[in-house]
Amino acid sequence: MPNVKFILPDGREQALEVENGTSLMRAATWAGIHSIVGDCGGNLACATCHVYVESTHAELLGPADTRETEMLEYTAAPRLPNSRLSCQILMQEGLEGLTVRVADPQL
Ligand code: FES
Repeated sequence: MPNVKFILPDGREQALEVENGTSLMRAATWAGIHSIVGDCGGNLACATCHVYVESTHAELLGPADTRETEMLEYTAAPRLPNSRLSCQILMQEGLEGLTVRVADPQL
């Protein structure tokens, strides 16, 4: 399973093995990363799963689709060019080593 590194708001880092097809939001909440809320369960209705993609993997992710782009307007933390909603990032082999910084705050 590919590894993903989460950089938490306090600067600590947490690495997770994430099964292919699982969203980063799900992996983070299952692992107890409370900084990612995921209030809507991944239905693009809350923006509480906001992350900043820190590594060169941004190109592999492709651009956010229209719904994700619209929901990124509602993030509590500033939206940056590398902002993404982690419920829309599904793990795949090519994303080994992906690093994301968890936005703070989420609400
Ligand atoms: S979990 Fe609600 S938009 Fe991602």
